[in-house]
Amino acid sequence: MKRNKVVVAVTGAAGNIGYATLPRLASGEIFGKDTEVELRLLEITPALGALEGVAMEMNDCAFPLLTKMVLTDNVEEAFDGINWAMLIGAKPRGKGMLRSDLLLGNGPIFTGQGNALNKAADDVQVIVVGNPANTNALIAANNSDVPNSRFAGMTRLDQNRAISQLAEKAGVAISDVTNMAIFGNHSKTMYPDAENALINGTPAYEVISDHEWLRGDFVTTVQNRGAEIINARGQSSAMSAANAALDHIVSMENATPDGDWFSAGVMSDGSYGVAEGLIFSFPLRADGNGSYEIVQGLEISDWAQQMIDATEAELISERDTVAAEGLI
Ligand code: NAD
Ligand code: LMR
Repeated sequence: MKRNKVVVAVTGAAGNIGYATLPRLASGEIFGKDTEVELRLLEITPALGALEGVAMEMNDCAFPLLTKMVLTDNVEEAFDGINWAMLIGAKPRGKGMLRSDLLLGNGPIFTGQGNALNKAADDVQVIVVGNPANTNALIAANNSDVPNSRFAGMTRLDQNRAISQLAEKAGVAISDVTNMAIFGNHSKTMYPDAENALINGTPAYEVISDHEWLRGDFVTTVQNRGAEIINARGQSSAMSAANAALDHIVSMENATPDGDWFSAGVMSDGSYGVAEGLIFSFPLRADGNGSYEIVQGLEISDWAQQMIDATEAELISERDTVAAEGLI
């Protein structure tokens, strides 16, 4: 989508992912070298001091396209007239936790933020990064008048992880791997679909003869990668998460290349037999004008169907938990 100016809100802007996101938003690589960028940086009050420091660094980058930064702890001010909302601000999990353990702590953040999105521009799009991302996106959507189709929970990091694994196994370049769908939840039940992925236009299952790996280690590596990084780094992924959130924006802003797709958690319309009204990751194609469609008709084997059923069941249970708490 071609714009002269874009206004982007980033929540949790003084956090780890925020720090890796902001310079790339302002550099011109995401919205184009002719598009001015205004940033609305939202933090909780105790983090405003740290946010000032981040803003000083942003100023010191002297980005020609960055016209304005608003630093605030007021969500309505942050979201007024925005074109994109990057909802990152939330607690990360620590070692030994599941992302769903964050649900009742982080979920309430997204009720007020969903409501404040009513102040956004008519074309606003929302990417929820804060975990558990799918159900937080569901909470935000349910608390907002913004159309459901504008809300996404981030599974792009899982897509990127899956592509990286397939490229390494096949000994090909990253760009040789396409059509990587993630189905379901950004959690350890997600289903990274190698059965429909292509390597240089050939089915991944033809290029990679080790089918045991494709149904075994490949899947569990992608499912558990976040926890592996927490164990190694002592902190959850930040650079790769920021990169994925920005990849998501680029994919939504531009027409998807012919024949390919990308993945994000979006409101289920019943595609692939998934219960309606869940934020469920599907293969998507964007038209470059702010709309997308769920890619239909991918072949789903019996084994893949079981994987999809398991991740759907987990999302239903998360939805029921937040419904019982009155968050949706
Ligand atoms: P962090 O702790 O470094 O930063 C989070 C920031 O959010 C902090 O500065 C905090 O003050 C701020 N914050 C908290 N509540 C807020 C609120 N109500 N409004 C505005 N700001 C608020 O954490 P991080 O590493 O940046 O991770 C942020 C979130 O992203 C975590 O929930 C993490 O689990 C999640 N995450 C998701 C993915 C994904 O693929 N979906 C990947 C990595 C991390
Ligand atoms: C990730 O996938 O790296 C993030 O969701 C962080 C986490 O808790 O795993």
